[in-house]
This record gives sequence, C-alpha cells and structure tokens, in this order.
Amino acid sequence: MTVSERDPVQQVEAAREAFEREFERFARFIGDDVSAVGLSLKEAEAEQHALAELRARHTGKKSALAACKKLIGRVAPEQRAEFGQLVQQQAASISESIEQVDQKLNSLIESARTERDSIDVSIPGRRPRPGHLHPITLMRQRIDDIFVSMGYIVEDDREIETDFYNFDALNIPEGHPARDTQDKFYTTEGFALRSQTSTVQIHAMQRRGAPVRMIAPGRVFRRDTPDPTHNPMFFQVEGLCVDRGITMAHLKGTLAEFVHRLFGPETQTRFRPSYFPFTEPSAEVDYSCFNCGGKGCRICKHSGWIELGGSGMVHPNVLRAAKVDPEEFTGFAFGLGIDRTCARIYQLDDIRLLFENDVRFLEQFR
Ligand code: FA5
Repeated sequence: MTVSERDPVQQVEAAREAFEREFERFARFIGDDVSAVGLSLKEAEAEQHALAELRARHTGKKSALAACKKLIGRVAPEQRAEFGQLVQQQAASISESIEQVDQKLNSLIESARTERDSIDVSIPGRRPRPGHLHPITLMRQRIDDIFVSMGYIVEDDREIETDFYNFDALNIPEGHPARDTQDKFYTTEGFALRSQTSTVQIHAMQRRGAPVRMIAPGRVFRRDTPDPTHNPMFFQVEGLCVDRGITMAHLKGTLAEFVHRLFGPETQTRFRPSYFPFTEPSAEVDYSCFNCGGKGCRICKHSGWIELGGSGMVHPNVLRAAKVDPEEFTGFAFGLGIDRTCARIYQLDDIRLLFENDVRFLEQFR
C-alpha cells in the first residue's frame, strides 16, 4: 500500500511521527534544559540552519502534512470537518514546536554575539611592545651625526659590484690576492658582493668630482668564518676627503676629532703603518680604551688600545680611475668597522649577538 492509499488519519499520524523522530534532537532547546547554554555561536548558528531545513521538510509545500491537507476535500463529507481539524491541529502543533526552538536559538545566538563583541574592561591590558632601532643603527647614527657636523655628506651605495669598482679602480690588479674567491662572495654573473665600503669612494668621486667630503656607512660581505670578532656580513663606514693640499695631518686631525666626540676629549689615537692597495701611505688606526683610559682592562683586552679601522692617503691610481687629477688634488680615506666598535661600546663579548635577532638581547639597547 502506498502512502496516498493509506487511511488519511494514518497518513497524518505518520507525518507526525516522522516529524517527532527528527525533532527529537531539538528537544533540549525547549523548557529549561541547561545543556543548550554552553553552545558556541558557531554551533548555535548551525543548529538554527538545521532547524530551518527541518521546517521546510515538514511544513513546506512538498511535506507529508501538505499532502494530507490536499486529502481534506477527498474524505467522506461526514468525516471532513473532523479530519480537517486534525490536520490543522497537527500543522499548528508542529509549527509551534519549531517556533519555540527557533526563539530559543535566536536568544542563544544573540547572547553569544554580545559576548563575542563585548570588551571586558577588568582584564589587564597587553603591554605594548614598541619597536626601536637596532644597536648597529644607533651606532651608525652617532657616527653620521659627528661627520655631518664636520661638513661631510652621507652616501649610500650598492652592495653588489662589478670588478671595476671592487678591484680595478681600487688599484687591485688582476692576480692580486685581494681578488681571491676565498675572500669574496661572487655571483654567477661575475658580480661580487662588496667586501669593503671603499667601492663608494669611486662612485662618489665619479658622481661629485673633486673636492669631495663624504662618508658611506653600509653593509659588506666577506668569506670570514663567524667567531666573536668576525661575521660574514658586517658594517663599515667609509670616509673620503679629497681637496687641494690635503695631507696626512688632516687625516689624523679628523679621526682624532671623531674619537673625541664619540668617546670623550681625553681619547688618544694611534696610527700604525699598514698596507692597503688603494692608499699610500696606509695606517691602521687605534684609539685609547674609553673604559680604562689606556691602562688596560677587560674591554681593551689589557692592551689599552682598541682598533678603529684602516686609513691612508688616497693612491694616485684611485684618483685617476675616478677621473680626478692627482697633480691637483690629494685626499685621505678611512674605513671603520661599526660592529666591533658597537660591541666595544656596549661591552659585548661576541659581535654575533648583534645578528641573532634575540629580542630579549636587543631590547637592552634603546
Ligand atoms: C678595510 O676594509 C679597508 N677598506 C679600510 C680602509 C678604507 C683603509 C679606506 C684605507 C682607506 P679592514 O679589512 O682592516 O680594512 O677592515 C676595516 C674594519 O672592518 C676592521 O677594523 C674591523 O673593525 C672590521 N672588520 C673586518 N672584518 C670583519 C668581520 N669579518 N666582522 C666584523 N668586522 C670586521
């Protein structure tokens, strides 16, 4: 027997039973059942969606109950009124049950949304962690300020260089040990990462001609194995002063003034003979320890002196490579290591700490 052939009353009962079976899972939303209280917003919304589907299935146009309504006209006239009432009652009762659950879910959703959107002003706030400059940047800024106040301009230049700027223009001919691949990072296209900021001397003279007074702070790269005083990437600041009548005395006076301003007026400088292909004569520069004043302590490794960098009088070949006439102009240049200076000032035992990006460490240097 198919559904439509069944007794109409039985059909109404079957529709009711089918509804009851599916509705059972929503019973917890009627009355004071507390199990529904802990529902999350997402869960409550999912339940409401499922309820809407149930409503469509059991009260919609294609529902079993709708089919029963169509039977009203077909039952015997003496039973029609009673049957009609039965169908209406069932329809009303089903709608009411669904409505009750819907209302409950609405209020659950409402309060879950209010909770989500509300701010509990009694919860302690999260401490803001504003960023700050890296110690190397702070050091760089102090150096920049000193030289700018002495009339130097600040140049910024490329970190990847051609052989001309890395070597030829710096008086480092083919076959010179400074071109060794063991010391440098070469790219596959024949460029190299600059291993010193001295490359900017050439760019600056080409751009500005002579006279020129500039510093060039920046990143350099060497195939050095990391240890407490070496990193494969570190910072230098180059200095260049080219003019008529510049002598070694100007170089010494400038660097003496620099260390006075950075470490205090009592700071001494010391120049040791050295060799760089791009300067002649060349010298390593040391300054007396800012901590012990030269007596010897842990910071200066008990020597009383701390290395600042390399320096010298610009080689005539370098001036020529940058199209500056060495008969008319002379100049001095220097290159200081920022990382090591920074490490000394902040009393770090290891320059690698500067690039480990440990916020707990970096936060100390504001
Ligand atoms: C030079 O790089 C020359 N360009 C300096 C120069 C410029 C001389 C102009 C003459 C005229 P040197 O290789 O000594 O020189 O390096 C200079 C400074 O860089 C050193 O004093 C040191 O402080 C720093 N330095 C060198 N290698 C490293 C490294 N691997 N890690 C950290 N700092 C380094």
